Amino acid sequence: MILVTGGTGYIGSHTVVALLDKGYEVVIIDNLSNSEESVLNGIKKITGKTPAFVKGDVKNQQTLDKLFQDYPKINAIIHFAAFKAVGESVEQPLKYYDNNVNGLIQLLKTMESHSVNKIVFSSSCTVYGQPGILPVDETAPVVKPESPYGNTKKINEEILFDAVKSGKGLKAISLRYFNPIGAHPSALIGELPIGVPNNLLPYITQTAIGIRKELKVFGNNYNTPDGTCIRDYININDLANAHVVALEYLFNQNVEYDVFNLGTGKGSSVLEVISAFEKSCNISLNYSFAPPRNGDVEKVWANPAKAKKILNWKAKISLEDTVLSAWEWENHYRKQLKNN
Ligand code: NAD
Ligand code: UFG
Repeated sequence: MILVTGGTGYIGSHTVVALLDKGYEVVIIDNLSNSEESVLNGIKKITGKTPAFVKGDVKNQQTLDKLFQDYPKINAIIHFAAFKAVGESVEQPLKYYDNNVNGLIQLLKTMESHSVNKIVFSSSCTVYGQPGILPVDETAPVVKPESPYGNTKKINEEILFDAVKSGKGLKAISLRYFNPIGAHPSALIGELPIGVPNNLLPYITQTAIGIRKELKVFGNNYNTPDGTCIRDYININDLANAHVVALEYLFNQNVEYDVFNLGTGKGSSVLEVISAFEKSCNISLNYSFAPPRNGDVEKVWANPAKAKKILNWKAKISLEDTVLSAWEWENHYRKQLKNN
């Protein structure tokens, strides 16, 4: 049985679907600080299965102890639970260090006391900062990220590395995500940003549906072909599947600690994403240029060769299909809200 922390969140819910589809039993712990319990209905409709669900905080030792006692079949963990708003982390760094770092520490302590020794951790390409060489591979230097949020990822990777090296049998994988976007093809689960979205895709779909007046493109004078920033946008279902293969790698191979980039290998500019959206969804998007956003790196995209070679995983779904899935989810979600 797999324990998925943060399993009602965006990436967690898609990964739970991928796990259930593969026949794994799943228990989720989530404190619903950034997600809704109704996500479980979507998971059930898609898979025909209901994962066990515990509403609780991963920082709470009693909650975790009880969970491991109640579900003694747990033999591995995928750890998504964290706060992720980059801007908020600059304003409230302690909130981020407390939740993201203490959450992992509590989890590792509880794993040790219940003899569970496998963990897959959600890291981020933010640990590379602005890489000198692109595409960036896992041997590139890890720098101190711009934001406290990013720094929690760097620190957590170091904690995992040290905990593995202490020789108590822990096996861990850090997955460095590039930019996950899109939704499940059923449109029954997707990204649910609370308040004004920080990320590009939810801002695009909310503008297209009329909730936001216009998209501001942050910066058009970067040293890139069209002047806008470049990222590696990866489909959420491709990303979810990577967690299943990473888990199987921990189960089946003699690995102690490893890190993998999860990206497509292709960079897309903000204007290219807008144009893919307009073409796939047959919509003209209202946007204008605005000054650059503080802390944005100019360009980053992955060299995903290591994940292909070792995990036999690669991203398959195109940007066009992915932005369409985000649009279908936005429409489905708004319709649902109206009907309730
Ligand atoms: P999300 O906010 O949708 O999901 C995180 C879930 O964790 C939420 O459901 C939230 O309620 C829960 N949670 C937070 N703190 C908790 C705690 N202390 N105890 C229990 N539950 C808690 O975010 P997401 O986009 O699904 O991201 C999942 C993970 O991937 C995070 O660790 C995030 O930092 C990392 N990540 C995300 C991105 C991205 O662009 N979405 C990129 C790189 C890394
Ligand atoms: N952008 C806009 N307008 C918007 C929102 C974004 O132009 O309204 C631009 C940004 O300037 C950037 C690109 O779109 O050039 C992507 O921005 P996102 O906010 O969607 O993504 P980021 O690359 O900034 O950050 C994401 C996650 C972080 C994570 C990072 C690296 O939000 O959690 O990827 O993994 F750390």
